[in-house]
Amino acid sequence: MVDDVESAAALVEQDGIPGGRHSARESGAGKGAWLATLGMTPADLTGKIIVVAGYKGGIGKTLLAYELAYLLGAVLIDLDWDRGNASRAWGYREENRIGSPLMDALGRGRVPRPLAGGPWRPDLVPCSAEFGIDQPPHEQLTEALETWAAAWGEEYRCPVVVDTHPGAQSSTYAAVAAAHGIVVPTVLGEREMEATEGLVSELKSYRIILIPNKVGISPPERYIKWLSRISATSFVPVGPSVSNYSWLPTRQRRMAICASNPVSARARPLVEELHRVGEKVVRYVAA
Ligand SMILES: Nc1ncnc2c1ncn2[C@@H]1O[C@H](COP(=O)(O)OP(=O)(O)O)[C@@H](O)[C@H]1O
Ligand SMILES: [Mg+2]
Repeated sequence: MVDDVESAAALVEQDGIPGGRHSARESGAGKGAWLATLGMTPADLTGKIIVVAGYKGGIGKTLLAYELAYLLGAVLIDLDWDRGNASRAWGYREENRIGSPLMDALGRGRVPRPLAGGPWRPDLVPCSAEFGIDQPPHEQLTEALETWAAAWGEEYRCPVVVDTHPGAQSSTYAAVAAAHGIVVPTVLGEREMEATEGLVSELKSYRIILIPNKVGISPPERYIKWLSRISATSFVPVGPSVSNYSWLPTRQRRMAICASNPVSARARPLVEELHRVGEKVVRYVAA
């Protein structure tokens, strides 16, 4: 079993690793392999764009984007420029790099080459602080995302997952405009619910799924009702929920949680919940 970053990185260099750069994503193990349980491969989702968005930080956007990208064998595009983003969780250190794949691609009108994540992490277009300061106009970013998803669809036969910055950002609207499905993690708390309600009413007619996240053992009735009301009035489905796992915030590993093999006893319920979320998202965007 290989479950640490160094061994994974060493394996990435080899050919023929399931889910790695040089082999089909669906071959038995590694990213994208889970789709076989739905009778699918990443190729069945070729060119699809799934955006994870929310007006608040700390609600689980990055967790869901990372795990979904792994499960779907998707290229992960990080549009969150703050530290603590998916790029950092992946192991990307922008201070050690020259240039920014995202900014370069946008500046030159090219398709970025994703960093190879190997079998246990998604391939990644990392974000850099510059993107927060110097974003392209909304329409240009939407068009770029569509072009990249189509190009990677041809080359890698896989979908795209986009992680976003919290708040009503131009880049988030740009991503949402390109999306075939928008996953909105929703924490059952006062301000979080306000934020979700605001987002849903602003993005009427978009294909949103709400995923309750960090759900405690007995969630307050008020929020369950509120969520049903949002769902009913906006025709937005509420997906399978993800419970609150106290160990998650201190986890340091870079590999996707769903990639662990064997799955530890403490992670097993989370992996099962993430699989259910994955299935719902797949059915939603494939429909
Ligand atoms: N279901 C959960 N249970 C416990 N902690 C969670 C859960 N989902 C996310 N977290 C933790 O909450 C923090 C914020 O999550 P993150 O995915 O970075 O949110 P966002 O991208 O919306 O800011 C992280 O420490 C993450 O590990
Ligand atoms: Mg985040």
